Amino acid sequence: MTKIRRIILTEQEMPRQWYNLAADVKCPPFMSPNGPVPPEAWAPVFPMNLVEQEYSTQRWIDIPEEVLSLLTRWRPAPMHRAYDLERALGTPARIYYKNESLSPCGSHKPNTAVVQAWYNKQAGTKRLTTETGAGQWGSALAFACSLIGLDCKVFMVRVSYGQKPLPKLMMQTWGAQCVPSPSMETQAGRAVLEQDPDTPGSLGIAISEAIEAAVTDPKGQTKYALGSVLNHVMLHQTIIGLEAKKQLEKAGEKLPDIVIGCAGGGSNFAGLSFPFVYDKIHGSKIEIIPVEPASCPSLTRGHYVYDHGDNAKMTPLVAMHSLGHNFIPAPIHAGGLRYHGMSPLVSRAVEDGLMSPRAINQLECYEAGMLFARTEGIIPAPESCHAIAATIQEAKKAKEEGKEKVILFNLSGHGLFDLLGYEKFMNGQLTDYELPQEIIDKNHEVLAGYPLP
Ligand SMILES: Cc1ncc(COP(=O)(O)O)c(C=O)c1O
Repeated sequence: MTKIRRIILTEQEMPRQWYNLAADVKCPPFMSPNGPVPPEAWAPVFPMNLVEQEYSTQRWIDIPEEVLSLLTRWRPAPMHRAYDLERALGTPARIYYKNESLSPCGSHKPNTAVVQAWYNKQAGTKRLTTETGAGQWGSALAFACSLIGLDCKVFMVRVSYGQKPLPKLMMQTWGAQCVPSPSMETQAGRAVLEQDPDTPGSLGIAISEAIEAAVTDPKGQTKYALGSVLNHVMLHQTIIGLEAKKQLEKAGEKLPDIVIGCAGGGSNFAGLSFPFVYDKIHGSKIEIIPVEPASCPSLTRGHYVYDHGDNAKMTPLVAMHSLGHNFIPAPIHAGGLRYHGMSPLVSRAVEDGLMSPRAINQLECYEAGMLFARTEGIIPAPESCHAIAATIQEAKKAKEEGKEKVILFNLSGHGLFDLLGYEKFMNGQLTDYELPQEIIDKNHEVLAGYPLP
């Protein structure tokens, strides 16, 4: 046997520290009408140990031993060489992917869910609330809470709640409560339903509901957990890229030429790419590509602005690429990529020219997912299909140019809960949808008078 298909690390080889890009890329502060938001202002929402990480500019942050031990339930994650995809494409590129689909929930989301639940437990929290789009984040937090001994309530975007019944059952199996959002349980939800009883919901609305449910707990024992966007979430996910670096070295490669991940709020992409952004900042030539749906193109067509992270404007202003907090995305199947905003660190790195974002249409992504399933064998999540589609574009380009490029992408999750989306694709029932410019302009008008980053 000469070809090594899966590059494996032992538990002893796991990274002992997370990499914090905030040491090397400077983001503008969170803002409120009174100026920059101090860390203490977050106390009703998050435990202070996580707020400290959110504001930290320390480059390397130790992973507590107990957290490492929790992560070994599914980490280190293997890196695969995609020999069969390469052969099908006839490309000289060498394609590698981190396989984050092997966690108990089937995605990268537990990498931060378990960490957040652990820090909350240390701080005395009894119950966590959150939102979920595709259901992956909700099920990851449900899993984490059951592991650590916390109650969990998940507001799931209504359109996904209808499209994807299985994640809801997973959450319930792990003991969490899952309700469709908007719901009648919060003021934010009731306000939206009054205006539009048939709304498909959005991550922005579900975030408003989850924050409201946390901060109005009369006993003050409930906190909110966010599955993406914020710096501490990106930080926890960097274990993906730090493992990948060791694995590339084991595979006999130096640094990759191209690093690719799909980007909803930015966490799996940041997790894989930030350790390589560090190399890029220090002179390495690496192309780093976040990929988003053409129907929700925050990075490629949204403005870099100060905006709220949620629909009801409960969060402070965040400097990020945004399609506007009142943006309601088209109900495409990649539910995890339907967020109006983006991680401030990813946004800033794009502004600084460290990354080259790309938007791809739904049909090309499903085609890429089908080819991947039929070559590599794993059925990818519709979100991950975006990373695969960009990888295929780059592999074809390498073929045209006759260049032996090393491409690394993140397989952020499997698509076994998303087979109804694949069924629609195979039956020709899916269409492409490019967001019209008028909608972008109209949502941008709402931000008139907001400070600029
Ligand atoms: C499998 C998968 N990939 C990607 C995403 C997008 O999120 P993020 O950009 O935070 O990685 C999600 C979100 O639910 C997801 O479930």
